[in-house]
Amino acid sequence: MKIFRSFRSFKVLAILIACFVLVAGVLTFVFLKFSPNPNLNTQYCHVAGLPYQNLALPIEERVDDLMSRMNDWEKIGQMALVEKNSVSPKDVTKYNLGAVLSGGGAGPKQDTPLAWLEMLNNFQDAANETCLGIPLLYGVDAIHGHSNVLGATIFPHSIGLGATGDADLVKRVAKATAEEVVATGIYWSYSPNLDVVTDIRWGKTYETFGSDTANVSKLGLAYLEGTQGSLNGYFEVLANPKHFIGGGSMTFGTSRNPKFKVEEGDIRMDEETLRQTHLVPFRAVIDGGAQVIMVGTASWNGEINSANHHLLTDILKNELGFSGFVVSDWYGVYEIESNKYNSLVRAVNAGIDMVMLPFEYKSFMGYMQKAVSSGDISRERLDDAVRRILTVKFKTGLFDRPRATVEGLSVIGSKDHRELAREAVRKSQVLLKNTNSTLPLSKSSAKILISGFSADNLGRQAGGWTTEWQGIDGNYGIVGTTILQAIKNTVSKDTEIVFNKKGDFLTENNPADVGIVVVGEKPYAEGWGDKDSITLSPEDLSAIEKTRANSKKVIVVIVSGRPMDIAKYAKDWDAVVASWLPGSEGGGVADVLFGEYPFVGSLPVIWDL
Ligand code: BGC
Ligand code: BGC
Repeated sequence: MKIFRSFRSFKVLAILIACFVLVAGVLTFVFLKFSPNPNLNTQYCHVAGLPYQNLALPIEERVDDLMSRMNDWEKIGQMALVEKNSVSPKDVTKYNLGAVLSGGGAGPKQDTPLAWLEMLNNFQDAANETCLGIPLLYGVDAIHGHSNVLGATIFPHSIGLGATGDADLVKRVAKATAEEVVATGIYWSYSPNLDVVTDIRWGKTYETFGSDTANVSKLGLAYLEGTQGSLNGYFEVLANPKHFIGGGSMTFGTSRNPKFKVEEGDIRMDEETLRQTHLVPFRAVIDGGAQVIMVGTASWNGEINSANHHLLTDILKNELGFSGFVVSDWYGVYEIESNKYNSLVRAVNAGIDMVMLPFEYKSFMGYMQKAVSSGDISRERLDDAVRRILTVKFKTGLFDRPRATVEGLSVIGSKDHRELAREAVRKSQVLLKNTNSTLPLSKSSAKILISGFSADNLGRQAGGWTTEWQGIDGNYGIVGTTILQAIKNTVSKDTEIVFNKKGDFLTENNPADVGIVVVGEKPYAEGWGDKDSITLSPEDLSAIEKTRANSKKVIVVIVSGRPMDIAKYAKDWDAVVASWLPGSEGGGVADVLFGEYPFVGSLPVIWDL
């Protein structure tokens, strides 16, 4: 009986304790969830009519006014750049984040222009809900058209534009791209690429205008001007020259990343050479009004660029007088050393103003608060970075311009833009070999054989950074015309076109007038495209051989991001064309093959035949 009683009271006690723990837990949760954020600046929350909101005032005054109302937490948020898949609009509000980007291939669930616009509006609404309502800067890699968006015009990659050497054309391409970007409510593109490539084994070779510093400067400036334009005194889209500095000269085999060979590698050269080869294009775009410069992930003589005060502050900001903001590259800041806090402090003190985290914004806010309150990063440095960022936001009209509308979306992939892309394609084609004037071909040949794994493949035509970061291999998604289709559209109605990707033709001793074999590289991007040697695949080589056996003449069209090693074979081919990565408009290739227009492109990089 006694035992029973004490057992009962033990049970009651246990239940009481459990209830207490439960209630305490719930209360703590409710308190943490709903108590005001200690970082919140309630003083100016959603107040209308403040000077910084007045578009009649000079930008400098607006920035001063805005900054005088910001606390450290809000300032730090402006320095964060987060990838969209790592952050919700809710956290943009909660953490006062200043910038978001779409990484390669990262868009809304359903990839339509309308869904992009809605996604942007949701993010901007979230920024608007912060106390001061500072608009978000949203960035995207529109490096050959607004190429994350299905239906966009896909222009040739920069290596092809480099082959045109045509500044006016490049400016128009950049402007058309900017129009498609703006239509989705985006005002910041991570282009142009000003890397001067010295080793084509690098996977980013096609992102560059080539290896001639003067050509890169000329076309880089044209691209910047076309992108930024002028819209009621604002920049239409902010260009973002990259990657400061020397990315094109990383030494093969020095990559910090064991999976890569060149990307994230070390540049080994003296300062004089670095300046002569790589600083010139940056000087040109800064004089031309560049507002944002991205620092690459390379190191220079062992010291990582994003922690290099001499490069970022002494040279870029002080010597070149760059007054915009410096943004770091993907996770680049955290590659400085294993301690993340130290890495961040070193990068910001070296001159990085905005950090492409791109993931961990919560710890970033904490590290930065600690650095500023301990004095590891001075308040002057914090204010300098934020002032640069906000000034650029005002100059881009983010505070004042009306939102993009659904009606505006019709510019995406428009007929005019596709026409322009086709012009860019034909002007980028380089005739590498043309024995006995094989080219141009007659549109009324009786029979043409077409083969090769890139002949009917929009994904290969477009290359990396199209729909997906690494691109796609095939004919889905991208809207455009393959080279095969373009040839069919060009020849006379009496011409017989026979297509077999592998070159399996049955001509029975009656060879065709001509065989066209379209070969090349599979899509790739960045370090995943680093390679020892750039060779044709056995399948493509076999298609060439078989087609050659079945036609009187053979023309090889190479769709690739860089020169391919064809020296051993090219002697057997009648004509060879470097098509680069032409993008969605294969018509430009057919234009020159059939003499609608002459070949005018010239090599932007050395190609040994
Ligand atoms: C690339 C940049 C690009 C960024 C954002 C980085 O890995 O180096 O060129 O702008 O990612 O996608
Ligand atoms: C992103 C790219 C970025 C790359 C860097 C990818 O996941 O989509 O934008 O350049 O990572 O490693």
